[in-house]
Amino acid sequence: MRGAMASSQIGFDVPDNWGLTGKVAIVTGGGAAGDGIGNGRAAAILLARAGTRVVVVDRDAGLAKRTVEMIAASGGEAIAFSADVTRAGDCAAMVEAALDRFSRLDFLDNNVGIGSRGTIIDESEASWRRLMTVNVDSMFLAAKHAIPAIRRTGAGAIVNVSSISALRPRGLTAYSVSKGAVIALTKAMAVDHGAEGIRVNCVAPGPVYTPMVYQRGMSAAAREGRRMASTLEIEGTGWDIGHAVRFLLSDFARYITGHVLVVDGGTTLTAPERDAGGAGG
Ligand SMILES: NC(=O)c1ccc[n+]([C@@H]2O[C@H](COP(=O)([O-])OP(=O)(O)OC[C@H]3O[C@@H](n4cnc5c(N)ncnc54)[C@H](O)[C@@H]3O)[C@@H](O)[C@H]2O)c1
Repeated sequence: MRGAMASSQIGFDVPDNWGLTGKVAIVTGGGAAGDGIGNGRAAAILLARAGTRVVVVDRDAGLAKRTVEMIAASGGEAIAFSADVTRAGDCAAMVEAALDRFSRLDFLDNNVGIGSRGTIIDESEASWRRLMTVNVDSMFLAAKHAIPAIRRTGAGAIVNVSSISALRPRGLTAYSVSKGAVIALTKAMAVDHGAEGIRVNCVAPGPVYTPMVYQRGMSAAAREGRRMASTLEIEGTGWDIGHAVRFLLSDFARYITGHVLVVDGGTTLTAPERDAGGAGG
C-alpha cells in the first residue's frame, strides 16, 4: 500500500514529524539576504528540524550556505547548492547533488520567485519575459528534473509557491499572471502525477515580511499598512509560509493534492470599507 499507514492507524497517535524524518528535500530559493527569514529559508529550517535532509538551492551560494549554517546550528543536516533554476542544466545538477549526497529525493519546495509592479502598459517586454522565466519556467524545470528522482523513491510531494496576487490582483499585473500560472501548473501536475504517489500543492502567501520585500527599503507606514491588511491585524513572516510548506509535504497532508493554501491572515477576505447602501451589497 502506497502512502505510509493504513487508514485504521491514522489518528492522534502520529509523531509531529509524520512522514518527514529521513526524507530528502530540495528547497529552491532557500537562501535569504543576511540573516533574514525568507519563505524558502524558513521551510528549509523547519523541514530539517523535523529530520528531513535538505538541499538548499540558491543562485547566491553565500545565502544558501548561511541557511545550511542555521540548520547545522540546530542539529539538522543540509547541503548548499548554487544553481540558477531558470537553467535546465542547473536543475539537473541540483537533483544529481541530492542523489549523490543523500541517495534519494522525496520533496521539492519550488519557492523561487521575483516581484514586479505595474500594468501591462508599464511593463517592458523584457521584464515581462524575465518574470515568466523566473516565476514559471523555474518551477517547470525544477519539477521536470525532480519528478523522475521522486518516482524512483516511490512517492513524494511538491509545493509550488504562488501568491495572493494571483487571486486578488492589485496593480502587480505581470506578477499576478505568473503566479496564476503557478496555480494552474500545480493543479495540472497534481492530476498528472497523483497515480504515481506524488502530491502537488500550492501555497499562496499574503504580504509576509521577508528580505524580498524589505531589502529595497520599506517605510514603517508601508509595513504597518501590510500588517493592517490582515483581518487578524498581525504581520505575516517567512515562518508562516514555511510551516504551511512543511505541512503540505508531510503525511498529515496525505489526502491533499492540487490544493491552493492561502496563508495571508485573512487579507484576501476583505475589500476596503465601503457604504453598503442600505442593501447589504
Ligand atoms: N514576501 C512576500 O510577501 C511574498 C508574498 C507572496 C509570494 N511570495 C513568494 O514567495 C517566494 C519566496 O519569496 P521571499 O519573499 O522569501 O523571497 P527572497 O527574495 O527573500 O528569497 C528568495 C531567494 O531566491 C533566490 N533566487 C532568486 N532567483 C533565483 C534563481 N533564478 N535561481 C535560484 N535562486 C534564486 C534569491 O537569491 C533569494 O535568496 C517567491 O516565489 C515569492 O514570489 C512572497
